[in-house]
This record gives sequence, C-alpha cells and structure tokens, in this order.
Amino acid sequence: MSAPFPIARPRRLRRTAALRELVAETTVRTSDLVAPLFVREDIDEPQPIASLPGVVQHSHDSLRAEVAALAELGVPAVMLFGVPARKDAVGSGASDPDGVVQVALRSLHRDLGDAVVLIADLCIDEYTDHGHCGVLAESGEVDNDATLEVYAQAAVAQAEAGARIVAPSGMMDGQVGRIRRALDEHGHVDVSILAYSAKYASGLYGPFRDAVDVRIAGGGNRSGYQQDWRNGREAWREVDADIAEGADIVMVKPALPYLDVIAAAKARTTVPVAAYHVSGEYAMIKAAAANGWIDGDAVALEQLTAVKRAGADVILTYLARWFAESQADAAR
Ligand code: PBG
Repeated sequence: MSAPFPIARPRRLRRTAALRELVAETTVRTSDLVAPLFVREDIDEPQPIASLPGVVQHSHDSLRAEVAALAELGVPAVMLFGVPARKDAVGSGASDPDGVVQVALRSLHRDLGDAVVLIADLCIDEYTDHGHCGVLAESGEVDNDATLEVYAQAAVAQAEAGARIVAPSGMMDGQVGRIRRALDEHGHVDVSILAYSAKYASGLYGPFRDAVDVRIAGGGNRSGYQQDWRNGREAWREVDADIAEGADIVMVKPALPYLDVIAAAKARTTVPVAAYHVSGEYAMIKAAAANGWIDGDAVALEQLTAVKRAGADVILTYLARWFAESQADAAR
C-alpha cells in the first residue's frame, strides 16, 4: 500500500549488500596508507609499547623485516621515527649521518630501493634532552629561527640517507621554506616535503611520547608552537604558508577531531592532503575493544573511512598493517 503523501525512500538503495557496494562513495585502499614505525638504537629485539598494543619499537633488523612485509602487502609508504640511545640539548642525533633514522634509511633504501616510499619525520623532540621540538633560547622558550637551521641540517642528512620525503612536524614558522632551500642547495630537488601543516596541540599524542621516550621538561607542553584546537581558520593560514614555501603534501593532525579542517584543506588546495590518525586515536580503539565495549575492527574501518571521506588522500595510521592484511585475506 502506498503512503498517502510523497515519501523519499533512501533505504531502497540499502537493501542488499550488493546495492550498498554499488553506491558506496568512499572506499579506503591499502595504497592510501602510510605506516608510522619506530626504530630504536641499541636494541636487539623489538620492544612492545604498553600504550600502543600491537606497535613496537623496532630494532634495525626487525624494522627491515617489517618494511619488507608491508611492501609485500601493498602498503606504499612508511614514516620513520627514531628513538636514540643518547639525547642532548640541540638534538644532534637528528642530523648525525650515523643517527638511528639515517642508519635505518640507508639499509631500507638498500633493501627495497623505490618499492616503498621512505618518509622521515623531521623533528628533534625525540633527540633533545628537554623533549621540545626546537632548541631553547636563554629564556627557556623555543627559538624559532635557530631551530630552522637544525631542521635544515636534519633534512639534508635524511635525504642523503635515502629519504624520498621529509616530513617536518615541529610547527616552526618558515620550516618548509628553510628545508626546501637546504634540500635544493644540496642537490635534493627531487626530495619532497610532506608538511605537518595543521598540527594541533592535542592530548592524543600521549602514547606516541611513550613510544619515543619523550617527556617534556618541567611538565611543559607544546602550546607555544602547535595549534590551538579552538581555531579552524588559523589552519588555513598554516596550509597556505606551507604551500607558498614549497610543501608537496599538506597534513592535518590528529584526524578525527579535525575532519572539518581536513575538508577545508582539501577544498582550498591543489596538493594532496594527508591526515594522521594518531597514537591516542589508535589507543582508544584498542582499549575499548580490549574491554569488549566496541568491535575494534569495525570501528577502525569506520574511522579510516571517515578520514578519507572528509578528503584525505593519504592516511598515516598504526592500523596500516592490520588493514592491509584484512584486504589481502578478503581477496583470497
Ligand atoms: C613530533 C611528533 C609527534 C607526533 C608525530 N610527530 C608528537 C608531538 O608532537 O608531541 C605524534 C604522533 C602520534 O601521536 O601518533 N616529533
């Protein structure tokens, strides 16, 4: 019996799995993903990270095996973070040719060539004894312009070791322009910059700081350089500046609380937009699932799809290996 008034029936297209598949707008692919990986100096066996279940600090050998496995599964890129054995005030390990990430880049480049895009996070917080993303002035504040010089050196060291993309994450003003100049001057015109453009001072980085052994001195925080999460338009200013300075890809971080910012970046730019589904986002899924409160796999897929639907062309996620394996299983 028909209704006595016009009624829209969107449910018609939801009736069967095949219909839903036909009209689905957004599908995450393994090739959209970048796996963030941690490599720690001076260990022989991978070390678990309590607040990031399933993620480890790799040894050099276990990192090589992991990246080879990811490549085999079709994950196109990895982002490396280093955990050095020694830290100092200026984060020397970030630009030392024998620093942990440079050593890792060289061996991965030797193993895999261009089969995987090697991306190096470019920051010094993992390497400084005070845990800030920049060098400190007498006042104790992060010195923006002095930090740019340190980033320039790190970029060149990473490129020389085999990074195809460097990813400045410290939120210093002018970092993209300074790094672009350093790379070009050293003949690395083909090395790209993935800019952490709109990176918020988020509470969701806690597990990451466990993973890289970072405690910010004096119980400090990064609100003096990372963005205030009350602001959306400010992100456009950051994105515009990074593109003007030469960013090849812009990134929004974290992902889920900032879907509006991802969508705005996508509408505003012609470069690829990346989003980082960060450690705390991953940890929340794992913790709730471990309690039996949510279906972790279902929520993970829903979240990654939402990030892509908002406009992300590239998603950095600790779920990359799980996702790639689930796709490979589904194809069998
Ligand atoms: C800084 C950096 C951080 C993350 C990526 N790069 C931490 C911070 O800003 O404190 C966080 C990533 C995550 O939480 O997964 N080098």
